[in-house]
Amino acid sequence: MASDVVVRAATVDDVELLHRFSVDLATFEDEPDAVTSTPQTLARDGFGKDPQFAALIAEHAGKPVGFALYTFNYSVWTAARGIFVEDIWVAPEVRRGGVARALMAALAKECAAKGYKRIDLNVLDWNPARGFYERIGFKWIRTWLPYRLAGEALAALAAGRSDAARKTGAASRST
Ligand SMILES: CC(C)(COP(=O)(O)OP(=O)(O)OC[C@H]1O[C@@H](n2cnc3c(N)ncnc32)[C@H](O)[C@@H]1OP(=O)(O)O)[C@@H](O)C(=O)NCCC(=O)NCCS
Repeated sequence: MASDVVVRAATVDDVELLHRFSVDLATFEDEPDAVTSTPQTLARDGFGKDPQFAALIAEHAGKPVGFALYTFNYSVWTAARGIFVEDIWVAPEVRRGGVARALMAALAKECAAKGYKRIDLNVLDWNPARGFYERIGFKWIRTWLPYRLAGEALAALAAGRSDAARKTGAASRST
């Protein structure tokens, strides 16, 4: 099947599809209510004057079967941009057919064409997708731990409330 997979850039006409795939992924990750974006906010934030993300759609037999949604970062050490993969999802019925590899290969080609130096992503510790990432060459960076400031702790720091860290210090799942 891999040779029949077509990968193309998402356009504003794909926002309903991107939203549906994002909800499918969040549901798979046990956070069905975590997606608060809408097709309208995706259109505004991905396809307006100052795009905050880009996305690829994979099609098989003319039908969308997967997507990758990504943002960009920048390394001051290497003076180069990188890609951060926010979401990658392949429809269950076509998994293990090379769709996700085709999506990632398209991102790798974009890196090669534009001089970006790396692709980063986060994956939940229990997710079998880790096998996929390692199969295509990703390395688990064991020496770095993700940290995040959000919600009440973020507001508290901004407001100068020093007690909030103790109240909200426990590791959170996501925001
Ligand atoms: C992870 C996911 C995107 C992989 O998509 P896919 O289209 O099935 O992957 P591919 O068929 O392109 O796999 C490429 C290679 O990785 C291997 N692979 C795929 N999934 C794997 C897994 N769970 N464990 C080990 N290896 C895996 C394939 O066997 C293939 O190996 P090969 O090149 O030797 O044939 C898909 O399983 C998925 O959508 N999972 C649910 C969503 C998800 O977890 N997304 C990631 C969030 S961080």
